[in-house]
Amino acid sequence: MHLGRTTLSKFLIQQVREHHAEEGAGLAALLVDIAAAVKAISAMTAKGALAGILGSLESQNVQGETQKKLDVLSDQAFINTFQLGGLVAGLASEENDDPIAVEPRPACANFLTLFDPLDGSSNIDVNVSVGSIFSVVRAPKGKPSLQDYLVPGDQQLAAGYAIYGPSTMLVLTVGQGTHGFTLDREVGNFILTHPNIQIPASTSEFAINTSNERFWEPPVQRYVEECKAGKTGVRGRDFNMRWIASMVADVHRILMRGGVFMYPKDTKDPSKPGRLRLMYEANPMSMVIEQAGGAASTGRGRILEVKPEQIHQRIPVIVGSREEVERVAKYHDEYDKGEDKAYSSPLFKERSLFQN
Ligand code: AHG
Ligand code: MN
Ligand code: MN
Repeated sequence: MHLGRTTLSKFLIQQVREHHAEEGAGLAALLVDIAAAVKAISAMTAKGALAGILGSLESQNVQGETQKKLDVLSDQAFINTFQLGGLVAGLASEENDDPIAVEPRPACANFLTLFDPLDGSSNIDVNVSVGSIFSVVRAPKGKPSLQDYLVPGDQQLAAGYAIYGPSTMLVLTVGQGTHGFTLDREVGNFILTHPNIQIPASTSEFAINTSNERFWEPPVQRYVEECKAGKTGVRGRDFNMRWIASMVADVHRILMRGGVFMYPKDTKDPSKPGRLRLMYEANPMSMVIEQAGGAASTGRGRILEVKPEQIHQRIPVIVGSREEVERVAKYHDEYDKGEDKAYSSPLFKERSLFQN
C-alpha cells in the first residue's frame, strides 16, 4: 500500500491548480494519459524476447531509419491513448511523416503532443535502457496547421520522458521544477520519488559519441580534448566518460548526478546539422533540464529559443551541468570570433591523418 505517498495524479492536481489555472485540469488529465501509455510500453519492453516483439521491420521512417517493431508498437500506444483520451487535437511523432489530426475534434482537445515513442531503440535488442520523450503545446481553436506545432520550446506547457530501465521512471515538468516518479509495477502507480531534481552546476563527466570526433567542429574537439587531458591539461582534473546511446538514459544520469551530454553539429552528413530532432527530443529534454537548474544549448544559443522550421528538423545538442554547457558555448563563440588561435586540433597537427 502507498498511503502517505504522493501518486502522479495527486501531484499533478496540486501542481496545475497552482500554476495553470486556465488549462490546468486538462493538462493534468493529459499527463495521466501519457503515464498510461508509458505503463503499456513499459510492460511491452519488459517482456523482451518472450513477447516476440524484438527486432526490426522492413519499413523505414521519414528519416530513413529502419523501424524496430517496438518503435511502431510504442508509437501506436501513444496514438491510441491520444485518440481515445479526448484531450489532444493533433499529434506528431518521430515515426510519422506528418502530424496526425484527431478527428472529429473532441470538445476538450486543447493540446497538441509531439513525441519520440521509443528513444534509443537500437538498444532494445541488447536489453539496454530505452525511453519515450514527449512535449505538450497549446492547440489552436480550429484545425491544427503545421505551423501550430512549430512553436519554440519555451512555449511548451509540459515536457518529460519515461525511462524503461531496471525500474521504469517518469520524469516531467509543467514549468515548475522537474520531478521524477517511479512505477510501482505490482500496483500500477507512479509514485513521486524524486521531487525537485537539481542538476549539479559542475561536473567531471561527459557523454559524446567519440566515433564522430573527426567530423566535429573545432570547439567541440577542443572541449573533449581538454577533458581527456585531465589532470595534466588545462582543466587540471580528470574527467570520466559515459555513453549509453539512448538520449533518455544519458540525460537521466545527468539529472541524477550531473554531467554534460553532447550530440553536436558534425560534417558526417552535411544535410543533417546534428543527430537529434528538435521538436520531440531536444526541446522536451531541454525544458526538463532547465527546470532542473541545468542548461541546454546548440553551442550557439539556447535550444528553447530556436524557431522551428520542420517537424523532423535536427539540431546540435549540448545539455546538462550549467558550467560545462556554458564552457562549450564559450568555445563556440571564441571559435566563431577567431579568438581561439591558441588551440589547434590534434587532427590537424603535423603527422596527423591529414598532414603527413
Ligand atoms: P531514436 O532511437 O529515437 O532514433 O534516437 C536515438 C538517438 C539518441 O537516443 C542517441 O543519443 C543517439 O540516437 C545515438 O545515435 P548514434 O548511436 O547514431 O550516435
Ligand atoms: Mn530518439
Ligand atoms: Mn525513437
